[in-house]
Amino acid sequence: MLSPMNYPVPMTPTPDAPENLDLYPTAPSNDALGAVPVIDLGPLLAGDEAGLDEIADAVGRACREWGFFQVVNHGVSAQTVDAAWTATREFFARPRTEKERWLRTRENPWGYYNNELTKNRRDRKEVFDFTTDGEDPIYEMENRWPGSPPGFREALAGYRDAVTALGLRLLRAFSVGLGLSPDHFGPLFDTSHTGFVRLNYYPVADPLADSDVVHQPEAELGVHHHTDAGALTVLAQDAVGGLQVFRAGQWHDVHPVEGAFVINTGDMMQVWSNDLYQAAVHRVLAMKGTDRYSIPFFFNPAAGAVVEPLPGAVSSERPPRYRPIPWSDFRYKRTDGDYADYGPEVQISQYRI
Ligand code: OGA
Ligand code: NI
Repeated sequence: MLSPMNYPVPMTPTPDAPENLDLYPTAPSNDALGAVPVIDLGPLLAGDEAGLDEIADAVGRACREWGFFQVVNHGVSAQTVDAAWTATREFFARPRTEKERWLRTRENPWGYYNNELTKNRRDRKEVFDFTTDGEDPIYEMENRWPGSPPGFREALAGYRDAVTALGLRLLRAFSVGLGLSPDHFGPLFDTSHTGFVRLNYYPVADPLADSDVVHQPEAELGVHHHTDAGALTVLAQDAVGGLQVFRAGQWHDVHPVEGAFVINTGDMMQVWSNDLYQAAVHRVLAMKGTDRYSIPFFFNPAAGAVVEPLPGAVSSERPPRYRPIPWSDFRYKRTDGDYADYGPEVQISQYRI
């Protein structure tokens, strides 16, 4: 395998630039760049070194080219995923006033929300966020679990644990792809990570249409274009579609593949890789005929992690491009910006050297 040092660093896209990315066209389905790659993780599950190298290669290429890929044969059982879908649909089907009993606050980000901002514009969606059990180390708050639908908590905790295990397996491939030992990222994530699961519901109608709560005008999107703040995201989407990734001046559909997870890299992976793996800019279109659901798991490092370009990604020709970023601080500021308009959202460009 080529050392990460030998890959040309791609041009930096413009996620933070003020220009309006939403004015760019959607690529036709026969576009020359093809589609977001689908990777069979079978060789990684086999646990041998050759399998790990093969997957690290495929993952590395997908991250340099797209920042997105899908995985099949990933080891998470269909039963676990189905239980999470059922719980998600049942929860969002409850009346708004009931869901608002679990409303997040500025102090405690766990629970339900229907007024989320991305870059200070309101998305047409509802979410429910939860993390590991007990007090989380950043906000020092606990999950809010609704008592119903029955089995909600159990189904989702099982899902969270299964996608965490998948995330840890993927991080071994990321480590190898970046020229490090397979266990490099393990200690920053395994027992002390600050990852969380989000249930996303994208209704056709504006969920706040009949609400008298003060809210920002809605943007004509499910989620505004953004990059995810953490290391990597493991996302299940239903068959409706609408997720798009920005590459080379066009939006590309991330087509639903049954039973697959969509994986994308976030800001912290961009910093660790010293821009080799760009955090992909993505968005979700507003739903037209059918409501959509998705379940991302945002896999984030330990609260105490200080993220900076890794030795394998730095050389005299390619000096570090970022100052060290204290993860807790970054995450705290980004969540605040999603909750309400407290000024411009924090971006990694603010740490660029
Ligand atoms: C997100 C996101 C994509 C989707 O929640 O950050 O990008 O398909 N979701 O729901
Ligand atoms: Ni996202």
